[in-house]
Amino acid sequence: MPDWKIRRAPTIQTELEVPGDKSISHRAVMLAAMSNGTCVIRGFLASEDCLCTVAAVRALGINVENADETTLIIHGKRRTFTAPKQDIDCGNSGTTMRLMAGLLSGQPFRSRLIGDASLSKRPMRRVIEPLTQMGAKITAEGKEGRPPLVIEGGNLQPIEYVSPVASAQVKSAVLLAGMFAKGRTSVTEPTQSRDHTERMLEYFLIRPQKNDLTVSLHGGLTPESRDFQVPGDISSAAFWLVAAAAQPRSHLLVKNVGLNETRTGVLAVLVRMGAQVREIVETEEAEPLGVIEVRGARLKGTEIAGKEIPNVIDELPILAVAAALASGITTIKDAGELRVKETDRLAAVATNLRAMGAQVQETEDGMIITGGIPLHGARLDSFGDHRIAMAFAIAGLFAEGETVITNTDCVNTSYPGFYQALERILKEPPGQQTHVITSLPN
Ligand code: S3P
Repeated sequence: MPDWKIRRAPTIQTELEVPGDKSISHRAVMLAAMSNGTCVIRGFLASEDCLCTVAAVRALGINVENADETTLIIHGKRRTFTAPKQDIDCGNSGTTMRLMAGLLSGQPFRSRLIGDASLSKRPMRRVIEPLTQMGAKITAEGKEGRPPLVIEGGNLQPIEYVSPVASAQVKSAVLLAGMFAKGRTSVTEPTQSRDHTERMLEYFLIRPQKNDLTVSLHGGLTPESRDFQVPGDISSAAFWLVAAAAQPRSHLLVKNVGLNETRTGVLAVLVRMGAQVREIVETEEAEPLGVIEVRGARLKGTEIAGKEIPNVIDELPILAVAAALASGITTIKDAGELRVKETDRLAAVATNLRAMGAQVQETEDGMIITGGIPLHGARLDSFGDHRIAMAFAIAGLFAEGETVITNTDCVNTSYPGFYQALERILKEPPGQQTHVITSLPN
């Protein structure tokens, strides 16, 4: 994909939808593949990451039909998989590798999970440890527990795992393995992380039990096949939400977006920063889905720390951009996990914000941003990280002069069509963008 060239266009007045939720798409494919029949998954995110999960279950003998790009028909085989003939390529997707490690730990055969250069640098001990305790044999071929992973599974014992990290991927890997263990497996996390796996297990009638920060389930049950609607991804919507929140004349409506409370922290942060934000849940089956309305304001700085961090973990790069546009100081703390994402996101955000003229102090587990200094355009690298590319494309809308983002192919891992959506907004002169905006009732 060519470099993105962005010019100043701070006012957004529009309605839009975003593609399907990445976390939920991965889980829907895995649960449907384990189910006892045919499941139609609608609103699936056809991005590189989620297509890796589809390819992985196909490699394990599952028939996945594409009715159209975002509709999959998955024929579950009652938790029975066949040994893959080749390595399973997880691409850039940490969720594919960690969740599949859980699922494959329950299978009585050998499999090997590989990833791209970025995924090959990411820590896997966090899943290797509990899965090994359950009885899987896992070898990390990379240094210090890094991929590729060779898994020889089967014959699992249940465990009561107390996770040192608030990670939905770790929790999900243990729960998926627990489905193949003899007895009750539980996971306790230090802080609530996204609960899509628990919700989807419930929807597929596995009936996990939730007690504060502990989730448990009985092994040996087969998910009951059901159709599933994936909501739009609030993490993708976050780029537009911030673009609208940071400009007083802006007004945005995002429709058909997921409103799971373990993911909506970005809305709370924007409200604290001074934006007007409203949300309405329209339907709730496995996951709540609805509308978000944002009216922009002159934002002010805030603190983002502690229990809130897992809820905004993927939104911190774009929230850091919001902080640079806000007046006053924003402090981000307790976010050391950002150092082990698709890139070191703390370093990447600090480097790019500074290149645009912002004042940023990077700390071990966060950053301190002194906002309100006018940004200027710059040539910025994505560091191969989709969320860095998109966050700085939005920063470019507020900068004087041209911003160029290089190395943009990575956007296809979570939001194919992001740049087309941006171009649509850039083509329309400020103030004339909107058609009809429906305001939400008070
Ligand atoms: C995800 C969990 C989060 C998140 C990632 C997707 C998931 O990672 O950052 O983008 O789908 O479970 P961690 O579980 O490592 O925090």
